[in-house]
Amino acid sequence: MSTPVKVAVTGAAGQIGYSLLFRIASGSLFGPDTPVELRLLEITPALKSLEGVVMELDDCAFPTLAGVQIGDDPATVFDGVNFALLVGARPRGPGMERGDLLEANGGIFAPQGKALNDVAADDIRVVVTGNPANTNALIAQSNAPDIPASRFSALTRLDHNRAISQLAAKTGAAVTDIKKMTIWGNHSATQYPDLFHAEVKGQIAADLINDQDWLENTYIPTVAKRGAAIIDARGASSAASAASATIDHARTWAQGTPDGDWVSMAVKSDGSYGVAEGLISSFPVTVKDGEWQIVQGLELNDFSRAKIDASVAELAEERDAVKGLGLI
Ligand code: NAI
Repeated sequence: MSTPVKVAVTGAAGQIGYSLLFRIASGSLFGPDTPVELRLLEITPALKSLEGVVMELDDCAFPTLAGVQIGDDPATVFDGVNFALLVGARPRGPGMERGDLLEANGGIFAPQGKALNDVAADDIRVVVTGNPANTNALIAQSNAPDIPASRFSALTRLDHNRAISQLAAKTGAAVTDIKKMTIWGNHSATQYPDLFHAEVKGQIAADLINDQDWLENTYIPTVAKRGAAIIDARGASSAASAASATIDHARTWAQGTPDGDWVSMAVKSDGSYGVAEGLISSFPVTVKDGEWQIVQGLELNDFSRAKIDASVAELAEERDAVKGLGLI
């Protein structure tokens, strides 16, 4: 077996953590031949509960789990890590305005970005799942000047997977028949799942369905509001699916995208498709040798353009708010 890959997970005692850790430890992320060492970060009051999760990890006797360390200090937990999955975040409490939420999360993601900058391995790759994911990723990235900005990303893969699954249900196709799905913009209700480039067995999905009303008034809201629908049904927010998408995102980053397909990742904009440079916005990306590239040259119709612009405007507002707070 090779040298263990060190994977940090924050918010490790939370709901998503409870699914995510066991998947990583069992080899879902790097395969059966690559051992992993888990570095788990929690806030001090949650460490006891995290100890219980570690007891369960021990009890699984996973052949690929080379070690587990836990702690409440990012500078210790992130030491030498190759991947950081930043899941722990501050949820919106009663009466909390968006500015308060951004500020509270800035208090988490700015110090975590600084700690990664100081102690992570040279090949560090960061995936932010904790909400508001895009702007939390921007805060972490802005506080890590020595790490290339391209190593920071936010999760829109859950939205991407939801968009594939809803399209498969509508068309009767298998999820494996669907390629080139894109989520554009923010991981929020303004996100834009794009059926004008997605393909079902090689045919453009929007042409195949040929029903703009369904696309606008059923499909897009169903994908964008799926999180709320799950809370309604389950009484708790999506956790196993969010963990699974976090694994998908990190695995694609490590292993690459197949020929003829792409995935959605929120990454730092270089101005492609008119998305303001510097925003962490979701794009269609291909990955090769551990480096992502935004797919170029897609034509956007007026409907897509307006949807993307609206979501990007929201990201710009969030960026301006955290800038005003001195977080970036
Ligand atoms: P949870 O509340 O069950 O767990 C969060 C954990 O983070 C808690 O154990 C908490 O103690 C910990 N935490 C808080 N501050 C921390 C810090 N400074 N350092 C380390 N740990 C810290 O929440 P859950 O369900 O696991 O969700 C986690 C986040 O993921 C939330 O922000 C949620 O909104 C987000 N999410 C994102 C999705 C996406 O598609 N991007 C999908 C679903 C959830």
